Amino acid sequence: MEKAIELKGVKKSYRLSKEVSVPALKGIDLSIDKGEYVAICGVSGSGKSTLLHIIGCLDKATEGEVIINGEDVSSLNNRKLSKIRCQEIGFVLQDFGLIPYRTVYENVEVPLLFAGVKRSKRKEMISAALKEVGIEDLTYRKVIKMSGGQKQRAAIARAIVNNASLILADEPTGQLDTDTKREMNELFRKLKESGKTVVVVTHDKELAGSADRVLFISDGKIL
Ligand SMILES: Nc1ncnc2c1ncn2[C@@H]1O[C@H](COP(=O)(O)OP(=O)(O)O)[C@@H](O)[C@H]1O
Ligand SMILES: [Mg+2]
Repeated sequence: MEKAIELKGVKKSYRLSKEVSVPALKGIDLSIDKGEYVAICGVSGSGKSTLLHIIGCLDKATEGEVIINGEDVSSLNNRKLSKIRCQEIGFVLQDFGLIPYRTVYENVEVPLLFAGVKRSKRKEMISAALKEVGIEDLTYRKVIKMSGGQKQRAAIARAIVNNASLILADEPTGQLDTDTKREMNELFRKLKESGKTVVVVTHDKELAGSADRVLFISDGKIL
């Protein structure tokens, strides 16, 4: 089986001052197959977001190896990292990360603008992504006028619009009601069925339960 993600001895410390640094990850070894759907669980402060940010090339490990779709990204410069983020990774951020006074269309368009995709092609890709998450009727709605579940769908549309092979989500159901959680659950399952690798950080037992595998992280280590 081809690997989507491999981490070897990954450590991450946040430097607060010259003398003080906070160890957030204390030696993570991890291997996730292409097309696998993995949930990562752990209490607040255990290092889940840090781990997801390193997998998503949003942040760099202090030590260790990070291999994404066969490429060692540990030593790449920021320009190359951002290229990988653009082409291969879709991120669903903890607080959606949408621009509130813009339309769904404009929000989902952002990664395509970064990737330099032409206008007509952008339109096509945005329409396909919105259809996939079931909010094509909200294309020109401003984010500020949408419900939590609708915003979450828009955030997922933005994550998948560039046809990323790897979808990473940080507590995607944290602020949603039970019915909407269930819909998100199905949506992540559907992304997995369509061949994507999905990694979700969650407290939600039901969401974790629908993953192929659940990893537990505690105090910067995988249990
Ligand atoms: N930017 C940062 N600067 C300093 N410490 C941080 C930063 N981000 C996270 N931490 C610390 O790293 C640890 C892990 O945090 P985090 O990965 O956000 O955990 P989780 O997502 O599981 O709540 C915590 O002790 C947290 O306080
Ligand atoms: Mg977090």
